[in-house]
Amino acid sequence: MTDATMTRTAGQPTKIANIEKELGELWSQLATDDDTVTRATTLNLVIYTESVERAMQLASQVPASHPCRLIVLTIDPQMGDTLTAEPTVVCRPSFGREARSHVCGEQIVITTGREGLTRAAYAVQSLLIADNLTYLLWMAEFDLDHPLLEVLNELSGGLIVDSAQFADPEAGLRALGRYLTTPHFTSDLFDMNWERLKGFCLGVASAFEPVEDRSSLWKIRSVEIAHRDQRLAGMLIFGWLADRLGWKLTHGEAGQAWTAQSKAGIVNLSLVDTDHTIPGLWKISIGTDAATYVASFSEVDGCIHIEGGSIAHTKTAAPMQSSALLDTILSVTGPDRVYLHALQSAGLLAEETISAEVVVVENADVLAGFAARKFVTLAKAAIRANGRFTVALSGGSTPKALFALLAGPRFRNEVDWAHVHFFWGDERDVPLTDEQSNQKMARETLLTPLAIPEANIHGIAAGDLPARDAAAKYADDLRAFFGLAMGDLPTFDFVLLGMGDDGHTASLFPHSAGLNAPGDALVIANEVPQLQTTRLSFTFAVINHAAHILALVAGAKKADTIHAVLRGPYQPDVHPIQRIKPSAGGMYTLALDREAAA
Ligand code: 6PG
Repeated sequence: MTDATMTRTAGQPTKIANIEKELGELWSQLATDDDTVTRATTLNLVIYTESVERAMQLASQVPASHPCRLIVLTIDPQMGDTLTAEPTVVCRPSFGREARSHVCGEQIVITTGREGLTRAAYAVQSLLIADNLTYLLWMAEFDLDHPLLEVLNELSGGLIVDSAQFADPEAGLRALGRYLTTPHFTSDLFDMNWERLKGFCLGVASAFEPVEDRSSLWKIRSVEIAHRDQRLAGMLIFGWLADRLGWKLTHGEAGQAWTAQSKAGIVNLSLVDTDHTIPGLWKISIGTDAATYVASFSEVDGCIHIEGGSIAHTKTAAPMQSSALLDTILSVTGPDRVYLHALQSAGLLAEETISAEVVVVENADVLAGFAARKFVTLAKAAIRANGRFTVALSGGSTPKALFALLAGPRFRNEVDWAHVHFFWGDERDVPLTDEQSNQKMARETLLTPLAIPEANIHGIAAGDLPARDAAAKYADDLRAFFGLAMGDLPTFDFVLLGMGDDGHTASLFPHSAGLNAPGDALVIANEVPQLQTTRLSFTFAVINHAAHILALVAGAKKADTIHAVLRGPYQPDVHPIQRIKPSAGGMYTLALDREAAA
């Protein structure tokens, strides 16, 4: 018998019922030689894949250290619900003993169309060797409702994914999170992507080991992760840091930047996609009060280099080949709890449920009436509870009807206006005398008719100061009024929003820099290239920290956008209003008229 790998295959696809017999015959063909052929199948490895080549390439390394019955289930859309199976026996020279003996494993490739998946799942189940540990390696888009998961979910070994392959990182993280919280999915979850990241985690942890660096661990202000096409890996690292350091991650601030609340204050988390040719995680920069610690991967020596702390050092990174990562997972027993906790934390970053209570009313006038009643109700409650009602107004045309109602006979006597404090969520970079000014519109339609005292009107010095200075001054005014320390966020009782037909809200426009403002920024001067202008705006962090957010959307021209916002993919850079999500337990109402809701 040669020392090379030997393969026997039945040559043509067969029926499931014939598999065991065919495998027996293949073995007997091999056993005729004088060398010892050890039929060793210590585990069942099931691989679900849409690319047999990739599966076989990955699996080809496994039997050497884990002789197994390998069952590859793959899809051929042309096959409908027909199903074929192709058995193969593969023997490889065993290493560690004289090369003349071989360890052999079995491979069965099952092919079916989408309509045959459930039958195929039961066929796979019937081919599992009893008493063997069974692992399911998922090399496709992760789909919780897949019949294979349903049929095999009691796997004793575990479900293995490679989240680096997920086309939609946020959706993939959410699906993994749902797997963990779905009671009937009981087998452990492993992620080859996590195995790749362990070198970085160890490198980052080692940077803070020296006594003089340890205290910096509790004064982290920012974490920036540079990657190439590996947002999910970055989010897993954020989850890992948050879990290990007890940070509270903000919900649903998905996109490129998030914030976490640590004992020392706000931590800014940001992902930066680089132009590296190779996908992967490249650098983690951790900013603390004392120093910036940097862990970077070098493709030259394949190591993680750590600088910034009291000692610069190097750590070897985990082997990156998928077969080595799979081998590591198959060699451990029991769940990887550090990964599971990191995954749960990272899931918060990927949350995208539009948490709005969506209300549809007949028309724009009824919408204004709905908003006026909500304003009055909330104002009465806040004044009763705290002696004041802080409200941030939006601009544009939609709120005009609301302002006229509040200043009109029906509502003006419903509120003790002396306790109401008015702010603006955004403003154009124009003087208060300009027709474009949101403050001008509000004064004319609401504040002057109600004789609101100037002390209760907290305006933005737009037009008087350069936009950046006006933003900084407004932020200072907010901190003074709400008594905030740097890094704290104000809690408005009520924030009124509108939505542009491009999906912007306040003055947070699609693809504008303001979408990724630092987590502790309150007010920004936001360049809006599509309007060739600068706008002043609250950040998402301020808006989302409110007790009540009411967004008013009226008119047919907004119907397509609001549909995309509510039913389309979560793309906050395209439709910024999707990032409106209460971060401090507040309420969010999205009120539409029938035309917008069409
Ligand atoms: C502004 C607003 C802005 C507005 C939307 C919708 O300054 O323009 O604050 O965010 O809410 O652009 O405007 P309309 O209500 O005019 O459609």
